[in-house]
Amino acid sequence: MANFSDFNLGIYLSGLSGVKPPFPVTYEGMAAAAAEKLDPVLLDYVAGGAGDEYTQNGNSEAFRRWGIYPRMLAGAAERDLTIELFGRTYPTPLFMAPIGVVGIMHESQHGDIEVARAAAASGVPAVISTLMQDPMEDVAAELGDTPGFYQLYTPNDRELAESFVRRAEAAGYAGIVVTLDTWSLGWRPRDLQHAAMPQLQGKCLANYFSDPVFRSRLEKSPEEDPGTATIAWALTFGSPALSWDDLPWLRGLTDLPLLLKGICHPDDVRRAKDGGVDGIYCSNHGGRQAASAPAIDFLPGVVAAADEMPVLFDSGVRSGVDVVKALALGATAVGIGRPYGWGITVGGAAGAHHMLQCLLAEADLTMGLNGYRTIAELTTESLVRTP
Ligand SMILES: Cc1cc2nc3c(=O)[nH]c(=O)nc-3n(C[C@H](O)[C@H](O)[C@H](O)COP(=O)(O)O)c2cc1C
Repeated sequence: MANFSDFNLGIYLSGLSGVKPPFPVTYEGMAAAAAEKLDPVLLDYVAGGAGDEYTQNGNSEAFRRWGIYPRMLAGAAERDLTIELFGRTYPTPLFMAPIGVVGIMHESQHGDIEVARAAAASGVPAVISTLMQDPMEDVAAELGDTPGFYQLYTPNDRELAESFVRRAEAAGYAGIVVTLDTWSLGWRPRDLQHAAMPQLQGKCLANYFSDPVFRSRLEKSPEEDPGTATIAWALTFGSPALSWDDLPWLRGLTDLPLLLKGICHPDDVRRAKDGGVDGIYCSNHGGRQAASAPAIDFLPGVVAAADEMPVLFDSGVRSGVDVVKALALGATAVGIGRPYGWGITVGGAAGAHHMLQCLLAEADLTMGLNGYRTIAELTTESLVRTP
Protein backbone atom coordinates (compact mmCIF):
# COMPACT_ATOMS: atom_id res chain seq x y z
CA MET A 1 0.00 0.00 0.00
CA ALA A 2 1.29 3.46 -0.86
CA ASN A 3 2.00 5.89 1.96
CA PHE A 4 1.10 9.58 1.68
CA SER A 5 4.75 10.26 2.49
CA ASP A 6 5.65 9.00 -1.00
CA PHE A 7 4.84 12.57 -2.05
CA ASN A 8 7.95 13.54 -0.10
CA LEU A 9 10.14 11.12 -2.02
CA GLY A 10 8.62 12.29 -5.30
CA ILE A 11 9.78 15.84 -4.62
CA TYR A 12 13.37 14.71 -4.03
CA LEU A 13 13.33 12.51 -7.14
CA SER A 14 12.05 15.39 -9.29
CA GLY A 15 14.83 17.50 -7.81
CA LEU A 16 17.36 15.18 -9.46
CA SER A 17 16.12 16.54 -12.82
CA GLY A 18 16.21 20.09 -11.50
CA VAL A 19 12.45 20.28 -10.92
CA LYS A 20 11.35 22.16 -7.78
CA PRO A 21 7.90 21.82 -6.15
CA PRO A 22 5.32 23.82 -8.16
CA PHE A 23 4.01 25.56 -5.01
CA PRO A 24 5.29 26.27 -1.49
CA VAL A 25 5.31 23.24 0.82
CA THR A 26 4.37 25.04 4.07
CA TYR A 27 1.31 26.93 5.25
CA GLU A 28 3.41 30.06 5.77
CA GLY A 29 4.86 29.81 2.26
CA MET A 30 1.44 29.33 0.67
CA ALA A 31 -0.04 32.22 2.68
CA ALA A 32 2.81 34.52 1.62
CA ALA A 33 2.41 33.55 -2.04
CA ALA A 34 -1.35 34.21 -1.84
CA ALA A 35 -0.72 37.59 -0.21
CA GLU A 36 1.19 38.64 -3.31
CA LYS A 37 -1.72 37.77 -5.59
CA LEU A 38 -4.83 38.81 -3.70
CA ASP A 39 -6.44 42.21 -3.62
CA PRO A 40 -5.47 43.70 -0.19
CA VAL A 41 -9.06 44.17 0.97
CA LEU A 42 -9.96 40.54 0.19
CA LEU A 43 -6.66 39.42 1.71
CA ASP A 44 -7.62 41.13 4.98
CA TYR A 45 -11.09 39.59 4.83
CA VAL A 46 -9.62 36.08 4.63
CA ALA A 47 -6.59 36.50 6.89
CA GLY A 48 -8.35 38.55 9.56
CA GLY A 49 -10.45 37.54 12.50
CA ALA A 50 -12.50 38.81 15.37
CA GLY A 51 -11.30 41.60 17.66
CA ASP A 52 -7.59 41.66 18.44
CA GLU A 53 -7.22 38.26 16.68
CA TYR A 54 -5.99 36.72 19.92
CA THR A 55 -8.39 33.81 19.43
CA GLN A 56 -7.37 33.01 15.87
CA ASN A 57 -3.67 33.23 16.71
CA GLY A 58 -4.25 31.15 19.84
CA ASN A 59 -5.97 28.46 17.75
CA SER A 60 -2.68 27.68 16.02
CA GLU A 61 -0.36 28.36 18.94
CA ALA A 62 -2.29 26.00 21.24
CA PHE A 63 -1.21 23.00 19.15
CA ARG A 64 2.34 23.65 20.34
CA ARG A 65 1.29 22.93 23.91
CA TRP A 66 0.98 19.29 22.92
CA GLY A 67 3.82 16.98 21.96
CA ILE A 68 3.77 13.44 20.56
CA TYR A 69 5.37 10.45 22.29
CA PRO A 70 7.73 8.68 19.89
CA ARG A 71 7.44 4.89 20.05
CA MET A 72 10.21 2.73 18.60
CA LEU A 73 10.24 -0.65 16.85
CA ALA A 74 6.49 -0.28 16.32
CA GLY A 75 6.34 -1.73 12.80
CA ALA A 76 4.77 1.41 11.34
CA ALA A 77 6.41 1.26 7.92
CA GLU A 78 2.99 1.16 6.26
CA ARG A 79 0.27 3.45 7.53
CA ASP A 80 -3.47 3.41 7.17
CA LEU A 81 -5.02 6.88 7.34
CA THR A 82 -8.51 5.88 6.25
CA ILE A 83 -11.53 6.89 8.33
CA GLU A 84 -15.15 5.80 8.48
CA LEU A 85 -17.78 8.52 8.45
CA PHE A 86 -21.54 8.05 8.09
CA GLY A 87 -21.15 4.61 6.55
CA ARG A 88 -18.48 5.55 4.02
CA THR A 89 -14.74 5.02 3.98
CA TYR A 90 -12.58 8.05 3.22
CA PRO A 91 -8.93 7.70 2.18
CA THR A 92 -7.76 10.46 4.53
CA PRO A 93 -8.88 12.05 7.81
CA LEU A 94 -8.82 15.54 6.25
CA PHE A 95 -11.64 17.69 4.92
CA MET A 96 -11.92 21.18 3.50
CA ALA A 97 -13.97 23.48 5.74
CA PRO A 98 -16.49 25.85 4.14
CA ILE A 99 -15.03 29.18 2.98
CA GLY A 100 -17.78 31.51 1.86
CA VAL A 101 -15.59 33.70 -0.33
CA VAL A 102 -13.40 31.04 -1.89
CA GLY A 103 -15.30 31.68 -5.13
CA ILE A 104 -13.59 35.05 -5.50
CA MET A 105 -10.22 33.95 -4.11
CA HIS A 106 -9.26 32.50 -7.49
CA GLU A 107 -8.60 34.74 -10.47
CA SER A 108 -11.26 32.90 -12.52
CA GLN A 109 -13.90 34.00 -9.96
CA HIS A 110 -14.97 30.35 -9.92
CA GLY A 111 -13.01 29.28 -6.86
CA ASP A 112 -15.81 27.00 -5.64
CA ILE A 113 -15.44 24.96 -8.81
CA GLU A 114 -11.68 24.80 -8.19
CA VAL A 115 -12.36 23.50 -4.66
CA ALA A 116 -14.62 20.78 -6.04
CA ARG A 117 -11.91 19.78 -8.52
CA ALA A 118 -9.35 19.64 -5.69
CA ALA A 119 -11.73 17.35 -3.78
CA ALA A 120 -12.15 15.15 -6.86
CA ALA A 121 -8.37 14.92 -7.36
CA SER A 122 -7.45 14.27 -3.74
CA GLY A 123 -10.37 12.28 -2.33
CA VAL A 124 -10.54 14.87 0.46
CA PRO A 125 -14.16 15.94 0.89
CA ALA A 126 -15.15 19.59 0.84
CA VAL A 127 -17.88 21.23 2.86
CA ILE A 128 -19.32 23.75 0.41
CA SER A 129 -20.58 27.05 1.84
CA THR A 130 -24.00 28.59 1.30
CA LEU A 131 -22.09 31.66 0.06
CA MET A 132 -20.88 30.58 -3.38
CA GLN A 133 -20.02 32.25 -6.65
CA ASP A 134 -21.46 29.27 -8.54
CA PRO A 135 -24.71 27.51 -7.68
CA MET A 136 -24.35 24.40 -5.53
CA GLU A 137 -25.52 22.16 -8.40
CA ASP A 138 -22.66 23.32 -10.68
CA VAL A 139 -20.14 22.77 -7.89
CA ALA A 140 -21.48 19.29 -7.07
CA ALA A 141 -21.04 18.32 -10.73
CA GLU A 142 -17.26 18.80 -10.35
CA LEU A 143 -16.79 16.67 -7.22
CA GLY A 144 -16.09 13.44 -9.13
CA ASP A 145 -16.30 10.40 -6.85
CA THR A 146 -15.55 12.38 -3.69
CA PRO A 147 -18.62 13.05 -1.55
CA GLY A 148 -19.34 16.69 -0.77
CA PHE A 149 -21.17 18.24 2.16
CA TYR A 150 -23.43 21.28 1.98
CA GLN A 151 -23.08 23.96 4.66
CA LEU A 152 -26.26 25.79 5.50
CA TYR A 153 -26.40 29.31 6.86
CA THR A 154 -30.00 29.13 8.03
CA PRO A 155 -31.86 32.08 6.56
CA ASN A 156 -34.67 33.61 8.57
CA ASP A 157 -37.03 32.62 5.74
CA ARG A 158 -37.81 28.96 6.51
CA GLU A 159 -39.08 28.15 3.04
CA LEU A 160 -35.76 29.36 1.66
CA ALA A 161 -33.86 27.15 4.12
CA GLU A 162 -35.96 24.19 3.03
CA SER A 163 -35.34 25.01 -0.62
CA PHE A 164 -31.55 25.06 -0.05
CA VAL A 165 -31.67 21.66 1.65
CA ARG A 166 -33.90 20.15 -1.08
CA ARG A 167 -31.47 21.43 -3.71
CA ALA A 168 -28.48 20.01 -1.82
CA GLU A 169 -30.18 16.61 -1.61
CA ALA A 170 -31.05 16.67 -5.30
CA ALA A 171 -27.50 17.68 -6.21
CA GLY A 172 -26.15 14.62 -4.37
CA TYR A 173 -24.47 16.15 -1.31
CA ALA A 174 -23.69 13.52 1.35
CA GLY A 175 -24.62 15.56 4.42
CA ILE A 176 -25.85 18.90 5.71
CA VAL A 177 -23.69 21.02 8.01
CA VAL A 178 -25.61 23.77 9.80
CA THR A 179 -23.35 26.56 11.01
CA LEU A 180 -24.63 28.02 14.27
CA ASP A 181 -21.99 30.59 15.16
CA THR A 182 -22.69 33.17 12.45
CA TRP A 183 -26.24 34.36 12.99
CA SER A 184 -24.63 37.79 13.01
CA LEU A 185 -21.25 38.90 11.73
CA GLY A 186 -18.41 39.12 14.30
CA TRP A 187 -16.48 42.29 15.19
CA ARG A 188 -13.79 42.31 12.50
CA PRO A 189 -11.63 45.42 12.71
CA ARG A 190 -9.76 44.81 9.44
CA ASP A 191 -13.00 44.67 7.43
CA LEU A 192 -14.51 47.55 9.39
CA GLN A 193 -11.48 49.69 8.58
CA HIS A 194 -12.01 48.98 4.87
CA ALA A 195 -15.79 49.34 5.34
CA ALA A 196 -16.04 46.37 3.00
CA MET A 197 -17.79 43.03 2.94
CA PRO A 198 -17.83 40.93 -0.26
CA GLN A 199 -21.44 39.76 0.00
CA LEU A 200 -22.78 43.28 0.35
CA GLN A 201 -21.10 43.97 -2.98
CA GLY A 202 -23.27 41.21 -4.46
CA LYS A 203 -20.51 38.59 -4.48
CA CYS A 204 -20.87 34.90 -3.58
CA LEU A 205 -24.67 35.00 -3.61
CA ALA A 206 -25.25 32.56 -6.49
CA ASN A 207 -27.19 30.09 -4.33
CA TYR A 208 -29.65 32.83 -3.40
CA PHE A 209 -29.95 34.42 -6.83
CA SER A 210 -30.58 31.00 -8.43
CA ASP A 211 -33.11 29.90 -5.84
CA PRO A 212 -36.79 29.79 -6.85
CA VAL A 213 -38.00 30.72 -3.35
CA PHE A 214 -35.56 33.64 -3.03
CA ARG A 215 -36.49 34.87 -6.50
CA SER A 216 -40.17 34.61 -5.73
CA ARG A 217 -39.67 37.18 -2.95
CA LEU A 218 -38.34 39.80 -5.38
CA GLU A 219 -40.27 42.15 -7.63
CA LYS A 220 -37.42 42.29 -10.14
CA SER A 221 -34.99 39.44 -10.81
CA PRO A 222 -31.39 39.65 -9.50
CA GLU A 223 -30.25 40.01 -13.13
CA GLU A 224 -32.48 43.08 -13.60
CA ASP A 225 -31.85 44.65 -10.20
CA PRO A 226 -28.84 43.13 -8.42
CA GLY A 227 -28.74 45.93 -5.82
CA THR A 228 -32.21 45.22 -4.46
CA ALA A 229 -31.55 41.47 -4.56
CA THR A 230 -28.40 42.00 -2.50
CA ILE A 231 -30.34 43.99 0.10
CA ALA A 232 -32.90 41.18 0.17
CA TRP A 233 -30.03 38.78 0.86
CA ALA A 234 -28.80 40.93 3.76
CA LEU A 235 -32.30 40.95 5.24
CA THR A 236 -32.66 37.18 5.06
CA PHE A 237 -29.14 36.22 6.16
CA GLY A 238 -28.75 35.13 9.73
CA SER A 239 -31.27 33.81 12.15
CA PRO A 240 -31.08 35.47 15.54
CA ALA A 241 -34.28 33.70 16.49
CA LEU A 242 -32.79 30.20 16.12
CA SER A 243 -32.73 28.33 19.44
CA TRP A 244 -32.62 24.75 20.69
CA ASP A 245 -36.40 24.71 20.23
CA ASP A 246 -35.76 24.89 16.48
CA LEU A 247 -33.60 21.77 16.41
CA PRO A 248 -36.55 19.43 15.66
CA TRP A 249 -37.34 21.61 12.63
CA LEU A 250 -33.72 21.48 11.45
CA ARG A 251 -33.58 17.72 12.03
CA GLY A 252 -36.83 17.30 10.14
CA LEU A 253 -35.42 19.09 7.09
CA THR A 254 -33.50 16.06 5.84
CA ASP A 255 -32.72 12.39 6.22
CA LEU A 256 -29.12 13.06 5.23
CA PRO A 257 -26.51 13.08 8.00
CA LEU A 258 -26.98 16.36 9.90
CA LEU A 259 -24.07 18.07 11.64
CA LEU A 260 -24.00 21.20 13.79
CA LYS A 261 -20.96 23.44 13.28
CA GLY A 262 -19.65 25.67 16.05
CA ILE A 263 -20.36 23.37 19.00
CA CYS A 264 -17.65 23.71 21.66
CA HIS A 265 -19.34 23.03 25.03
CA PRO A 266 -20.10 19.48 26.27
CA ASP A 267 -23.61 20.52 27.34
CA ASP A 268 -24.34 21.73 23.81
CA VAL A 269 -23.06 18.39 22.49
CA ARG A 270 -25.53 16.58 24.73
CA ARG A 271 -28.42 18.78 23.59
CA ALA A 272 -27.49 18.22 19.95
CA LYS A 273 -27.31 14.49 20.56
CA ASP A 274 -30.70 14.47 22.26
CA GLY A 275 -32.04 16.35 19.23
CA GLY A 276 -30.99 13.52 16.94
CA VAL A 277 -28.09 15.05 15.00
CA ASP A 278 -25.61 12.68 13.41
CA GLY A 279 -22.36 14.52 14.02
CA ILE A 280 -20.76 17.36 15.94
CA TYR A 281 -18.49 19.91 14.26
CA CYS A 282 -16.27 21.50 16.90
CA SER A 283 -14.97 24.85 15.64
CA ASN A 284 -14.66 28.48 16.64
CA HIS A 285 -14.87 29.55 12.99
CA GLY A 286 -11.11 30.02 12.80
CA GLY A 287 -11.39 32.83 15.37
CA ARG A 288 -13.42 34.98 12.98
CA GLN A 289 -16.67 35.22 14.88
CA ALA A 290 -16.32 35.69 18.64
CA ALA A 291 -13.34 35.67 20.97
CA SER A 292 -13.36 32.37 22.84
CA ALA A 293 -10.45 30.05 23.63
CA PRO A 294 -8.20 28.02 21.36
CA ALA A 295 -10.55 25.59 19.62
CA ILE A 296 -8.31 22.57 20.25
CA ASP A 297 -8.80 23.10 24.00
CA PHE A 298 -12.52 22.41 23.53
CA LEU A 299 -12.00 19.18 21.62
CA PRO A 300 -11.43 16.66 24.48
CA GLY A 301 -14.63 17.75 26.28
CA VAL A 302 -16.63 17.65 23.07
CA VAL A 303 -15.32 14.19 22.18
CA ALA A 304 -16.13 12.84 25.66
CA ALA A 305 -19.70 14.18 25.51
CA ALA A 306 -20.20 12.99 21.92
CA ASP A 307 -19.33 9.45 22.98
CA GLU A 308 -19.75 7.30 19.84
CA MET A 309 -20.95 10.18 17.64
CA PRO A 310 -18.42 11.46 15.06
CA VAL A 311 -16.69 14.75 15.85
CA LEU A 312 -15.33 16.93 13.07
CA PHE A 313 -12.84 19.57 14.12
CA ASP A 314 -11.34 22.71 12.60
CA SER A 315 -9.68 26.01 13.56
CA GLY A 316 -5.94 26.64 13.59
CA VAL A 317 -4.69 23.49 11.83
CA ARG A 318 -1.58 24.55 9.95
CA SER A 319 0.53 21.41 9.55
CA GLY A 320 0.40 17.64 9.32
CA VAL A 321 1.63 17.56 12.92
CA ASP A 322 -1.45 19.54 13.99
CA VAL A 323 -3.62 17.02 12.14
CA VAL A 324 -2.06 14.14 14.10
CA LYS A 325 -2.60 15.95 17.42
CA ALA A 326 -6.26 16.67 16.65
CA LEU A 327 -6.78 13.00 15.78
CA ALA A 328 -5.08 11.93 19.01
CA LEU A 329 -7.42 14.23 20.93
CA GLY A 330 -10.34 12.36 19.42
CA ALA A 331 -11.37 14.13 16.21
CA THR A 332 -12.90 11.76 13.67
CA ALA A 333 -11.93 14.10 10.82
CA VAL A 334 -9.82 17.26 10.76
CA GLY A 335 -10.75 20.33 8.74
CA ILE A 336 -8.63 23.07 7.27
CA GLY A 337 -9.85 26.48 6.17
CA ARG A 338 -7.31 29.12 5.23
CA PRO A 339 -4.55 26.64 4.23
CA TYR A 340 -6.47 25.32 1.22
CA GLY A 341 -7.98 28.76 0.57
CA TRP A 342 -4.50 30.19 -0.03
CA GLY A 343 -3.81 27.17 -2.25
CA ILE A 344 -6.83 28.09 -4.38
CA THR A 345 -5.52 31.63 -4.79
CA VAL A 346 -2.02 30.52 -5.70
CA GLY A 347 -2.84 27.64 -8.03
CA GLY A 348 -6.57 26.87 -8.19
CA ALA A 349 -7.44 23.18 -7.77
CA ALA A 350 -3.78 22.22 -8.25
CA GLY A 351 -2.69 24.63 -5.51
CA ALA A 352 -5.24 23.33 -3.00
CA HIS A 353 -4.44 19.73 -3.94
CA HIS A 354 -0.75 20.45 -3.36
CA MET A 355 -1.46 21.92 0.09
CA LEU A 356 -3.50 18.83 0.99
CA GLN A 357 -0.71 16.53 -0.22
CA CYS A 358 1.83 18.40 1.92
CA LEU A 359 -0.36 18.17 5.03
CA LEU A 360 -1.07 14.49 4.41
CA ALA A 361 2.59 13.62 3.75
CA GLU A 362 3.66 15.38 6.94
CA ALA A 363 0.87 13.77 9.00
CA ASP A 364 1.74 10.37 7.58
CA LEU A 365 5.48 10.74 8.26
CA THR A 366 4.81 12.09 11.76
CA MET A 367 2.70 9.04 12.52
CA GLY A 368 5.10 6.55 10.97
CA LEU A 369 8.32 7.87 12.46
CA ASN A 370 6.69 8.16 15.87
CA GLY A 371 5.48 4.57 15.63
CA TYR A 372 1.73 4.90 14.97
CA ARG A 373 0.39 2.78 12.14
CA THR A 374 -3.29 3.63 12.29
CA ILE A 375 -5.44 6.50 13.50
CA ALA A 376 -6.93 4.16 16.12
CA GLU A 377 -3.47 3.86 17.66
CA LEU A 378 -3.42 7.64 18.25
CA THR A 379 -5.00 8.43 21.61
CA THR A 380 -4.54 11.03 24.33
CA GLU A 381 -1.91 8.60 25.71
CA SER A 382 0.12 9.37 22.57
CA LEU A 383 0.40 13.01 23.62
CA VAL A 384 2.37 14.82 26.28
CA ARG A 385 1.63 18.32 27.57
CA THR A 386 4.51 20.70 26.91
CA PRO A 387 4.94 24.03 28.71
C1 LIG B 1 -12.57 33.67 4.53
C2 LIG B 1 -13.34 32.66 5.32
C3 LIG B 1 -14.69 32.45 5.04
C4 LIG B 1 -15.40 31.51 5.77
N1 LIG B 1 -16.70 31.25 5.43
C5 LIG B 1 -17.39 30.30 6.10
C6 LIG B 1 -18.70 29.95 5.69
O1 LIG B 1 -19.21 30.43 4.70
N2 LIG B 1 -19.35 29.03 6.43
C7 LIG B 1 -18.81 28.44 7.54
O2 LIG B 1 -19.45 27.63 8.19
N3 LIG B 1 -17.55 28.75 7.92
C8 LIG B 1 -16.83 29.64 7.22
N4 LIG B 1 -15.55 29.91 7.58
C9 LIG B 1 -14.94 29.18 8.70
C10 LIG B 1 -14.28 27.89 8.23
O3 LIG B 1 -15.23 26.96 7.82
C11 LIG B 1 -13.42 27.24 9.32
O4 LIG B 1 -14.21 27.07 10.48
C12 LIG B 1 -12.17 28.02 9.67
O5 LIG B 1 -11.63 28.65 8.54
C13 LIG B 1 -11.14 27.08 10.25
O6 LIG B 1 -10.06 27.78 10.70
P1 LIG B 1 -8.68 27.93 9.88
O7 LIG B 1 -8.93 28.92 8.81
O8 LIG B 1 -7.79 28.41 10.97
O9 LIG B 1 -8.27 26.59 9.35
C14 LIG B 1 -14.79 30.80 6.83
C15 LIG B 1 -13.42 31.01 7.09
C16 LIG B 1 -12.70 31.91 6.33
C17 LIG B 1 -11.23 32.06 6.61
